[in-house]
Amino acid sequence: MTTANNSNQHYKGLINRYKKYLPVKEGDKIISLSEGNTPLIKLENIPKQIGFDGSIYVKYEGLNPTGSFKDRGMTMAVTRAVNEGSVAIICASTGNTSAAAAAYAARAGIRAFVLIPEGKIAMGKLAQAMMHGATVIQIKGNFDEGMSLVKEVADHAPVTIVNSINPYRLQGQKTAAFEIIEDLREAPDYHCLPVGNAGNISAYWLGYSEFYDKKQVKNKPIMAGYQATGAAPFIHNKPIKNPETIATAIRIGNPQSWDMAVNATVESGGWFEQRTDEQILYTQKLLAQKEGIFCEPASAISLSGAIADIKSGKIKQGSNIVCTLTGHGLKDPDTAISQSTKPMKTINATLDDVKRAIIREL
Ligand code: F0G
Repeated sequence: MTTANNSNQHYKGLINRYKKYLPVKEGDKIISLSEGNTPLIKLENIPKQIGFDGSIYVKYEGLNPTGSFKDRGMTMAVTRAVNEGSVAIICASTGNTSAAAAAYAARAGIRAFVLIPEGKIAMGKLAQAMMHGATVIQIKGNFDEGMSLVKEVADHAPVTIVNSINPYRLQGQKTAAFEIIEDLREAPDYHCLPVGNAGNISAYWLGYSEFYDKKQVKNKPIMAGYQATGAAPFIHNKPIKNPETIATAIRIGNPQSWDMAVNATVESGGWFEQRTDEQILYTQKLLAQKEGIFCEPASAISLSGAIADIKSGKIKQGSNIVCTLTGHGLKDPDTAISQSTKPMKTINATLDDVKRAIIREL
């Protein structure tokens, strides 16, 4: 077990905490917003409700500075870019990567260009990219087309790609696995997470394997990756041309980290599964209303998948499960409000009317 985190010290972000495991050199300027160190929350009500006698923890990555796990990779990618003299970064994004790229570029004082699929990113993410001063380019196409364009542009222009094909991104993201091992004092039995471009499942496997190889931990989890039914290339074992899902963060048909993600499931004895949009939204609401935890739709697929696999017996009773909640629910207020079952009431501003409104609900 590592004791890299000294609790008496002001937390300075994951590069500072895990520098001996990361590609940084003495004297490098670190670009950080104190990302990482996110809570691992044990669910109390949902396991009882579904008759599960093990433990389900959620790694709440929505509490990173820009509200998603992307900050872990971005601190590393932008730190390397800046120390290698880059003055501009570029990415294609379903929203969260663009928000993180924009924020870390602002922090570093460099330019950010983000390509997003027109009309298909959640409002909070767009607001972030715009607020942090990125050049936001909407394309009349999907994420996969944006990704191909970014690769071509980077061949011709002095810009550093900060999508997860940038190897430093996964190095930063692997630290989430380190934190989980330190919190639990072991690796979980199962790790469940959403899969879009497939970088994150690959990064977690890197992290778990690295701590295992370095004898910081004695076990490794079984990795389970979940995709939305309309955007499930790993389920069909081939790229999907027109991916569709309400979980816009994972509306991806041609994942860039294909081989590494397959390797993570094969090596760990895990699997890919799919969940429908209805199942995703149901679990998002369940988590919000039974546990008080608000995540975005794409994130809820990890718990939705875990619950389905507990019920089918694929995940064993009595085990420890970690589900990554990749992004904060506030990223996508439109989807949250539109699926709310309790409509707002408008009443007169009188004590009687307020009393009546409350009593009716008690
Ligand atoms: N969950 C959220 C909230 C995401 O934003 C993403 C990916 C994923 C899960 C899937 O992770 O791609 O590593 O398999 N978002 C990227 C973006 C593609 O552009 O923000 P992955």
